[in-house]
Amino acid sequence: MKALIISHDSELQADVASQGSARMPAVEVLAVRQGLRDAVERLLPDSPGLVVLDASELAPGEAELLEPLARHYPRAAFMLLTRAPQQDLLIRAMRAGMREVLALPLDHRAFHDAMDRIEVDAGITRMRNGKALAFISCKGGSGATFLSTNFGYALAELGGCKVLLMDLHGQFGDATLYVSDQKPVMTLSDICAQIGRMDGAFLDSCLVHVAPGFGVLAAADDPAQAVEMKPDHMDIILRVARQHYDYILLDVGRQIDALSLRALDHADVIYPVLQLALPDIRDGRRLLDIFRSLGYPAERIRLIVNRYEKGGKLRLADLSSALGAEVAHTVPNDYLAATDSVNQGVPLLQLSRSSALARSLGELVELVTARRIPESKGLFDRLFGRGEDI
Ligand SMILES: Nc1ncnc2c1ncn2[C@@H]1O[C@H](COP(=O)(O)OP(=O)(O)OP(=O)(O)O)[C@@H](O)[C@H]1O
Ligand SMILES: [Mg+2]
Repeated sequence: MKALIISHDSELQADVASQGSARMPAVEVLAVRQGLRDAVERLLPDSPGLVVLDASELAPGEAELLEPLARHYPRAAFMLLTRAPQQDLLIRAMRAGMREVLALPLDHRAFHDAMDRIEVDAGITRMRNGKALAFISCKGGSGATFLSTNFGYALAELGGCKVLLMDLHGQFGDATLYVSDQKPVMTLSDICAQIGRMDGAFLDSCLVHVAPGFGVLAAADDPAQAVEMKPDHMDIILRVARQHYDYILLDVGRQIDALSLRALDHADVIYPVLQLALPDIRDGRRLLDIFRSLGYPAERIRLIVNRYEKGGKLRLADLSSALGAEVAHTVPNDYLAATDSVNQGVPLLQLSRSSALARSLGELVELVTARRIPESKGLFDRLFGRGEDI
């Protein structure tokens, strides 16, 4: 979005410009004018999308220029900044169709909230009302991190969704390493420490960007800071995340703490990940008992059987009846493809696009989004033939 900034105050001009440039998509400063009169005398040939107008030092009679300015830029959204809101100014602003009025000194969160509303109105972004999906391994090493990270990538790349993965493993989280070689600059604990700054732009700036539609928020790595993380922080993070992402994947890890428990409370669906073996089933039963005692409804819990091989002694039906839950999806065992991907830190879909594992991730995308993926259909059907059941 292109912006015109109108202010005598060079510090405020710089502040608005830097906050705007940190947004996704960035707000680009088209021009700066030193006050309302200057803005009306030197009109821009093309209407900007946004006019940020500092009305704190208006000369007598200058307020009358608000309406002509608004008429010149009929397609622009106006953000009015004032130090002491005067009633007549506000009435004029409202008459001129200016809806966003913010107090100075500029509060960055209020600025970004207003920008969110302006971008939604302008059709640049939409409030997404995203879904939170939790992945939790029933037994250590069942594959929850491998599946959630690679599924996040598949959701973004095949499903065209905007996806955020939060690593909730406490201090031993390593989800970013499964799909990226970038070192996270910010972690979950940094966000909690600066929760007052929380908005879509801040959240996005804290992520390791794996693909254009897929970002990973690294786990808290400093045990001292972990103390500062409170369940209330999770409420705020998830509220903002739901507005800006289609899916928020939670890689919960096996140590459930107060923070990850709050995340599970919010999850729309919980996918316990387990392998078809007795120790996994035993631990799975304990986990599901905990969920029942927490009052989570049965339809929110959907099992994923990982490293599944047909023809074993234990059958999927045995697992279902032992745990009292349906198996939503199975993922084949593919040691080479999985190990290659994990060792290189490259998403499986990038590395082994034609593997059975890639196909299974594509099917999970279709299951979760309830949409057929046209490319994957062609690709998967050509590579594997039709009708192979899970
Ligand atoms: N479908 C699969 N086929 C073959 N190997 C797999 C498959 N899924 C996962 N793996 C392997 O299992 C290993 C453990 O997976 P992962 O780290 O995701 O488990 P986890 O459930 O997150 O464990 P933790 O409890 O430690 O968090 C990975 O290194 C990966 O290579
Ligand atoms: Mg893990």
